[in-house]
Amino acid sequence: MKFTRAKALRGELTVPGDKSISHRAIMFGSLAKGLTTVDNFLKGADCLSTIDCFRKLGISIEEKENQIKIQGNGLHGLTQPGQILDVGNSGTTIRLISGILSGQCFDVSLTGDSSIQKRPMGRIIEPLSQMGASIQSVKDNDCAPLKIQGKLLHGIHYQTKVASAQVKSAILLAGLYADSPTSVTEPALSRNHTELMLNFFGAKVETKGATATIQPDPFLTGQAITVPGDISSAAYFIAAGCITPNSELFIRNVGINPTRDGMLKVCKMMGADVTVLPHKVQSGEPTADLLVKTSSLNGCTIEGDLIPTLIDELPMIAVMACFAKGTTVIRDAAELKVKESNRINVMVENLTAMGAHITATDDGMIIEGGYPLQGAVVDSHLDHRIAMSFAVAGLNADGETEILGAECVNISYPGFYQDLNQIQSS
Ligand code: S3P
Repeated sequence: MKFTRAKALRGELTVPGDKSISHRAIMFGSLAKGLTTVDNFLKGADCLSTIDCFRKLGISIEEKENQIKIQGNGLHGLTQPGQILDVGNSGTTIRLISGILSGQCFDVSLTGDSSIQKRPMGRIIEPLSQMGASIQSVKDNDCAPLKIQGKLLHGIHYQTKVASAQVKSAILLAGLYADSPTSVTEPALSRNHTELMLNFFGAKVETKGATATIQPDPFLTGQAITVPGDISSAAYFIAAGCITPNSELFIRNVGINPTRDGMLKVCKMMGADVTVLPHKVQSGEPTADLLVKTSSLNGCTIEGDLIPTLIDELPMIAVMACFAKGTTVIRDAAELKVKESNRINVMVENLTAMGAHITATDDGMIIEGGYPLQGAVVDSHLDHRIAMSFAVAGLNADGETEILGAECVNISYPGFYQDLNQIQSS
């Protein structure tokens, strides 16, 4: 797919439902008793993989226009699938479902695409094994495919090495099936959608600082969930509105959970003209409308506890930094290397091809702003967040930018290019 310079981006848009929250709504609805409805569910490939897995585990899930209906069978109501569960490209699906499957009374195998089969699973295998789970990497390389034999689980206290909501959630979900409370302490607080939504369904999860504790065997009751817009999807339009001349974008109904809103904090640090208009709390998650205008940006340092709150936005922020005055330093973000692609290497390779001044470090990137971008052929490495970041870069570069593998945006934002197009022509 090819992109050329945009003169202006103007108009209103609503980004699709939050990916993390959509996954959890399907999972927790499947474990609850009775009907759960999910409005504004994200019909991206990753969340559809979660639906597919829970259908294979015996749950009836109906897809309507913009609503999903789940007939949950309760905490002990899953049944053994007749086949291997395929999570596609979805790290959230494989890690969270592993926690759930560890406590069942049947065996199951899990696999995914070639990217998933390279991503680290040792980070869940270790704590789940400590709880008494039997979970093996079939190729003995700490990656998928995984084989899980359901066992009786024990509550543990676990200190994670990385701030990862997927790891934390896998442990908490296994904790639903344990014989005593389970707690997880993280080096910094990661997104807390699991804690908020499990409580919404009737579980008892308590959070103190970066420690979450879950009580076992709660009664979960079906709920009506409305998924807020995904701030990680809004991030492309926030950045595009800031760096494209003559732009003004109004982005409706974006989730602004404080464990996810690092992009807004970075906008403030860079001096971006972004106004946050909070409006309501949906299913326990705060939301806002955002007004974004063309901005003159300054470089900044992004590090520490801020990193988990914007981990998926860092590719887009790296592009933004090319348009800022001065240097932007991103550190403490080694996790970028184990996402859908190695996002440090891929960002540096592609932005360098476009003429940016960017250097990779062990745990991030250093970007010297103010060097105009030139169109180039860039490879998405089939990573949705890379493809979307370079679409925005291409709208702000001289000449033509071609993105290879551009269709991978279907993972989290199937209508992305249409939405980007619509604000160019309006
Ligand atoms: C997610 C957690 C994050 C994030 C991913 C979604 C989740 O991953 O990058 O896109 O839904 O829990 P990590 O837990 O690996 O940080």
